[in-house]
Amino acid sequence: SQIKEVEFVKSSGRAKDCPKDDRPEFAILGRSNVGKSSLINALVRKKELALTSKKPGKTQLINHFLVNKSWYIVDLPGYGFAKAPDVARMDWSSFTKGYFLNRESLVSVLLLIDASVPPQKMDLDCANWLGRNNIPLTFVFTKCDKMKVAKGRRPDENIKSFQQLIRENYPHHPPWIMTSSVTGLGRDELLLHMSQLRNY
Ligand code: GTP
Ligand code: MG
Repeated sequence: SQIKEVEFVKSSGRAKDCPKDDRPEFAILGRSNVGKSSLINALVRKKELALTSKKPGKTQLINHFLVNKSWYIVDLPGYGFAKAPDVARMDWSSFTKGYFLNRESLVSVLLLIDASVPPQKMDLDCANWLGRNNIPLTFVFTKCDKMKVAKGRRPDENIKSFQQLIRENYPHHPPWIMTSSVTGLGRDELLLHMSQLRNY
């Protein structure tokens, strides 16, 4: 399940411009500052990958990265940027919505949740929208190393609260993985999880 090579393939402005082949892919989604770029860099162990300089909130593009010439990691526009996108209706970007609803090669969305803050409405709205539309989802909690946190709540407490809120809307709780791109926590588990989903 290790990553040997990663190459940037293309940025697409519309769902229908995405690569046409049917290699399996994982979409990385989450609020700005959740640690998306950091997680991708930790996964591929490449600090200089183009992803680090991408500003999804500004570029508003779907970026395809090909891993080991066999599957894609897709960097999506984040949500929660200054001009308050309405995540409840997922219209912060209609093409992102088009991507989710029409991308048959999508194996799972990796929805990144910042474990250093209490549950955020936008994240719950996003998870619930994906659930209502039957889009496969994996929760990836980020920043699990952080001990100086908002309102004195530790990452494990924030994660527990988040999962309780999710349980109300998901009869089958999606898988979840705790990560830190500072300590490397969860890296191997996440790579293994993705390889299992690909081969399923
Ligand atoms: P945008 O590109 O703005 O959407 O943000 P992003 O989701 O790509 O977040 P990014 O990876 O740039 O990280 C945002 C901030 O969080 C940076 O200051 C990172 O150093 C920090 N950060 C990311 N991951 C972790 C983590 O696992 N632990 C800690 N302590 N900090 C992290
Ligand atoms: Mg980023």
